[in-house]
Amino acid sequence: MTLLITGGASGIGAATAHLAASRGHKVAINYRSRDQQARKIVADIEAKGGKAVALPGDVVREADIRGLFDAAEKALGPVTHLVNSAGIGLNSSVKDFDAAALERLFAVNTIGVILCCREAARRMSTRNGGKGGVVVNVSSMAGTIGGRPGAAAYASSKAAVDSFTMGFAKELATEGIRAVSLRPGMIETEMTEKTLSDRETRSAIESTIAMGRVGQAGEIANAVVWLLSDEASFISGVTLDASGGGFVFGKR
Ligand SMILES: NC(=O)c1ccc[n+]([C@@H]2O[C@H](COP(=O)([O-])OP(=O)(O)OC[C@H]3O[C@@H](n4cnc5c(N)ncnc54)[C@H](OP(=O)(O)O)[C@@H]3O)[C@@H](O)[C@H]2O)c1
Repeated sequence: MTLLITGGASGIGAATAHLAASRGHKVAINYRSRDQQARKIVADIEAKGGKAVALPGDVVREADIRGLFDAAEKALGPVTHLVNSAGIGLNSSVKDFDAAALERLFAVNTIGVILCCREAARRMSTRNGGKGGVVVNVSSMAGTIGGRPGAAAYASSKAAVDSFTMGFAKELATEGIRAVSLRPGMIETEMTEKTLSDRETRSAIESTIAMGRVGQAGEIANAVVWLLSDEASFISGVTLDASGGGFVFGKR
């Protein structure tokens, strides 16, 4: 089992790398700028007897994506599992939208995911001589509500992932590939650090979550690793919400 995780050096991707390695996956950790964080995760996994490799690459570059699959295969064997966790936010009101920032947002969050899925399909498909495989795309609960204020574009970049994953899964279902879109709610990671550091904002956000709290990266990793496993063998083409019971409107 070789698992490639995009954006694997921090947050949800990093938590997934640790957990998956502890369950026997060989893990290829893609990173864009976080060289040291990625190497530290590899060292931690290896210290526990696991196998891992850190692979630089930017998911907006098609050649980098191909290179990632090649390098993962060379180091650990053919990629059988893929988690698309690389993603960026965009906090902007619609009136202030900047075209270049929108292009970057969709290049990373949507097209990057789609191209990684294409690469996985080409290599995993049993019709192409592959062994089959599993893909988990990390989208967002934001996609279900148009995002919190200032996150409409981010939300739409994730909603597109949900829809794509459904079609992708149907197209590849008879070729040994399962695919699921996992929608985290608000999770405490570097992406949300600034927002959640303000106590008032945090408590306002938590008042809209049924469980009354934000989630932790490890809670998402648990769901990802289960979806990757054979225990989820009949689950494909769906979205799974990991969101503390979902959004509630107004005070709980
Ligand atoms: N935290 C939440 O509340 C939440 C909720 C719903 C969904 N999500 C989604 O969960 C995923 C993981 O986010 P996170 O919360 O774990 O935050 P995070 O720690 O910021 O993780 C995002 C990772 O993606 C990497 N990345 C960004 N652009 C990339 C690119 N072009 N190529 C390769 N890697 C790239 C980042 O590395 P660099 O900094 O080096 O670019 C970073 O390591 C994202 O897709 C996010 O949208 C998060």
